[in-house]
Amino acid sequence: MIARLPDVNSVRKSLQTSPRPLVLVPTMGALHEGHLQLIRAAREKVGPRGTVAVSIFVNPIQFDRLEDLKNYPQPLEEDLALCEKEGVDLAFIPEVSSLYASDHSTLVTESLLTKHLCGASRPGHFEGVLTIVLKLFHIFQPDVAIFGNKDFQQLALIRRMVRDLDLPLEIMGHPTVRELDGLALSSRNRKLTDEHRTDAPRIRRALLAARDLAVNGEQSPAVYLDAARRHLLKETLPDFKIDYLELVDAEALQPVSKVTSAVTLATACFYGPVRLIDHIGITPG
Ligand code: PAJ
Repeated sequence: MIARLPDVNSVRKSLQTSPRPLVLVPTMGALHEGHLQLIRAAREKVGPRGTVAVSIFVNPIQFDRLEDLKNYPQPLEEDLALCEKEGVDLAFIPEVSSLYASDHSTLVTESLLTKHLCGASRPGHFEGVLTIVLKLFHIFQPDVAIFGNKDFQQLALIRRMVRDLDLPLEIMGHPTVRELDGLALSSRNRKLTDEHRTDAPRIRRALLAARDLAVNGEQSPAVYLDAARRHLLKETLPDFKIDYLELVDAEALQPVSKVTSAVTLATACFYGPVRLIDHIGITPG
């Protein structure tokens, strides 16, 4: 039976009797197969006797567009039923007011890995993410926390924060879960129109087409970027727009002048108001 925990005190109380190890899966809800795979990996990690905790919280301070926050899907009862089915032990479902005082003024800032990609295109977003993730780590004191590689900049930042601030837990990454046509699963996919949904796999195809160039040892970032851009924009829909398309090194997430070791090609694209992200690793052959 899943325990619904509405505030920090109820988490603290339930942790007194929760068997270790404890693994935390932070989410904003609207759970899909991607989240569920994280939950299954969590159970695998702690075994049948360990504790799997899921947080479901649409964190207002990580939204840079009010419209995005207002439109964020929140099917709480469906989410809880899915958690129950997956054998989650604890579900943390706080109200905004129970996590943020009305005059809260402390944020976690990272100053290198946030310079590009979503860090540049969504000012303040990652401060909001790191702040809530650090709060969740303090509240749950988990042995392990699991994050999806779909949000690879987020995952890299969380690993960096754990290293830089000496947080005593293990961070596990989980591969991106995709639809059969290649579209990365996202809570935002349900906001796409049918026409946009049909078109959206072009994002994955564009990244794959660019990666194909690595076979010949291509070293010019511009060549990869042009190939991906061409695929993204070919016979595109009128309300499709590239937010960013960038090639960065896999460690510090900075643009490279030459592709000589592993890099990541990453993009964010808008279909109308819906913003989708994806990326691909490239290692020149
Ligand atoms: P959310 O977008 O709900 O995602 C929760 C977790 O699920 C994240 O670790 C994310 O990377 C992972 N995830 C989402 N789609 C995935 C997919 N297709 N394949 C694999 N994993 C996937 O990310 C957040 O929430 C928030 O920023 C959060 C970390 C909870 C902080 O508020």
